[in-house]
Amino acid sequence: MDSTRLATAFSAAFAAQPAGFVRAPGRVNLIGEHTDYNDGFCLPMAIEREVRIAWAPRADATVRVGSLQQQGVVTFALSGAIAKATAPAERWADYVKGCAQILIEAGHAVKGCDLFLTGDVPLGSGLSSSAALEVATIHALCAASGLTIDGTTIARLGQRAENRYVGTNCGILDQLSSSCAVAGQAMLMDCRTLALTPAPLPAGVSIVIADTGKRRGLVDSAYNERRAQCEAGAKALGVSHLRDVSMHGLWQAAQAGTLDAAARRRCEHVVAENGRTVAAFACLRAGDAVALGELMDQSHTDLRDKFEVTCAELDGMVAIARTLPGCLGSRMTGAGFGGCTVSLVRTGDAPAFAAELERRYRVAFPAMTPAVYVTGAAAGAGRL
Ligand code: GLA
Repeated sequence: MDSTRLATAFSAAFAAQPAGFVRAPGRVNLIGEHTDYNDGFCLPMAIEREVRIAWAPRADATVRVGSLQQQGVVTFALSGAIAKATAPAERWADYVKGCAQILIEAGHAVKGCDLFLTGDVPLGSGLSSSAALEVATIHALCAASGLTIDGTTIARLGQRAENRYVGTNCGILDQLSSSCAVAGQAMLMDCRTLALTPAPLPAGVSIVIADTGKRRGLVDSAYNERRAQCEAGAKALGVSHLRDVSMHGLWQAAQAGTLDAAARRRCEHVVAENGRTVAAFACLRAGDAVALGELMDQSHTDLRDKFEVTCAELDGMVAIARTLPGCLGSRMTGAGFGGCTVSLVRTGDAPAFAAELERRYRVAFPAMTPAVYVTGAAAGAGRL
């Protein structure tokens, strides 16, 4: 991404030059879905799409923020409770306000600044556009305020902004990926300790993201409901998180009547997915792309049948991908209910795979506008 247009827009909006730029990437999760808020494991990498913010300090305690993708500039004061947008057209800036509010609540001396942002992470598509905005915003506010905060803490603050201010009860996956990703690597994320262990993709395979064009609103979706079901399951099983449950334990609880059939299905996905994610990391270490692809396929099946967060478009995209040459595995990525799939494809086949997947999906779902692209693993957020 080039900062020239951003600098021009900043100058036009604020009649001054930016003092600097920050960036934060979106992410794709290779496997480990709906495990983060169960203290489990994920295997994400950052993608080559990001939010970028031009910033400059101000002498007062006011924040002004504009966006290349939105009309108008939103202005708010850094005192007391920062009010959310009343006009729907200004709701995008709530992520920025939420980050400022959370930083202040955490005791940081946030100073006034002018911010202008741009981004090419598609919104509501499961690639963490909101986490990229939160993490980039925190970096920009820190830069303008002379603050230094470590990447893990920035991720936690971004998650808190999303949980408390925006109102989505998300886990740590998205913000920690955006904040701490390692260029050229996927990462095993332990959502209990927040430890990240990087490993490169096996040689000769590429990651292909396919956007179904179906959008979901995370706040409005069944996301919070799924999380509540997992927490209820853990409580019924006498553990703090499903991370601490085995398949055998689940079976015993079902025999004893502790878990009903629906709760058991949700828990089974989480327990199996944690096992698959650790196994997938071992595949990365061993360079075994075929076994990794099989685990991705299994993950999708459970997300469809047991966790029930797929939809016709995601299932259709995955089904088409699996018929194409060079595809080793394909699954939905992110929260589900719409958004993107991720496929593991032999690098030589990837361009033809991407073109044919898009063509066939358009035929199967004529009302949708898909987008398919190959991505490398980008670096985590930072100042430019
Ligand atoms: C969304 C949430 C994450 C995670 C995924 C599902 O992306 O923001 O915290 O729960 O869904 O794995």
